[in-house]
Amino acid sequence: MRGLSQRVRSMKPSATVAVNARALELRRQGVDLVALTAGEPDFDTPEHVKEAARRALSQGKTKYAPPAGIPELREALAEKFRRENGLSVTPEETIVTVGGKQALFNLFQAILDPGDEVIVLSPYWVSYPEMVRFAGGVVVEVETLPEEGFIPDPKRVARAITPRTKALVVNSPNNPTGAVYPKEVLVALAELAQEHDFYLVSDEIYEHLLYEGEHFSPGRVAPHHTLTVNGAAKAFAMTGWRIGYACGPKEVIQAMASVSSQSTTSPDTIAQWATLEALTNQEASRAFVEMAREAYRKRRDLLLEGLSSLGLKAVRPQGAFYVLMDTSPIAPDEIQAAERLLEAGVAVVPGTDFAAFGHVRLSYATSEANLKKALERFARVLGRA
Ligand SMILES: Cc1ncc(COP(=O)(O)O)c(C=O)c1O
Repeated sequence: MRGLSQRVRSMKPSATVAVNARALELRRQGVDLVALTAGEPDFDTPEHVKEAARRALSQGKTKYAPPAGIPELREALAEKFRRENGLSVTPEETIVTVGGKQALFNLFQAILDPGDEVIVLSPYWVSYPEMVRFAGGVVVEVETLPEEGFIPDPKRVARAITPRTKALVVNSPNNPTGAVYPKEVLVALAELAQEHDFYLVSDEIYEHLLYEGEHFSPGRVAPHHTLTVNGAAKAFAMTGWRIGYACGPKEVIQAMASVSSQSTTSPDTIAQWATLEALTNQEASRAFVEMAREAYRKRRDLLLEGLSSLGLKAVRPQGAFYVLMDTSPIAPDEIQAAERLLEAGVAVVPGTDFAAFGHVRLSYATSEANLKKALERFARVLGRA
């Protein structure tokens, strides 16, 4: 009988991807729109990385790669995780994937049986719950609160643990809140994973986009329980290259590679050689990352100051490139607020699918001129201009 599976029918397409596509389409039609929707750097990929891709092409490095990635890149990853994250891993404990997204997708496929519970901290990145459910898991939400700076309370997390808890997902710096979790909180969560023997999935894709505080990898505390997920997209402005990576216990990494071998075979070979350059040409990459970080910091400060002068409330983000803005002065709920802002010429993502009710997500991965224009339009919506 024809028809779609129950599994796919219950999967929601990504709200952020959809809203961004709508904004781009409106702009294509000539609508004057400032889009604060994109979850991607507005910088171009650095030249040394592009050059490495050209080199790979001209050297004919255009064939299939092993499912877990080319050995040179896995070696560089083991070294990166040691140098930058203090994790002691061998190349066999690393995997290269089609974006951080595939690392997470394969990971949930690898560890979840039907009914297994995964604790997800809300507001959350929209894909975690969908991926967990797609793998047969059950999402258990634990709130983080604006009045606590969206930092999780380990005691609240502990109360959500049951004998069926298979994993806890943490994401610091966080999308959509911009929160950077303090080391002691991450240590406490890693200890819970050890004590109750579940996996800690640590999504560290924004590790380099950090304006205050320090990045800490909880895999240092619970190496046998932690899967550390990362990728080239945000750090090196490589969203379209689709390269992610992860490290963790070998049996899970091998299972993730099996899922790849039966679905994508391997990530793009040329993009892997380019990523190798991004990870090993440390001097050039560091200069790029620092340039981008300083630009985002200035934009964050400009946006926060503007919001505050309009009386719009937002928790000060310490990392990533998002702000969650309280929409109560604009409309009764975040969906209506996003509509009003769109009518005024600013596209934002309503917090609904992040479980950030009463908030919209603003991305400041856009120029200062665009941010100023967006603030002028917010002022008009509030009758302040
Ligand atoms: C929190 C978080 N994790 C993972 C990803 C995946 O990124 P990619 O698949 O582009 O590497 C994103 C992208 O927006 C993200 O925001």
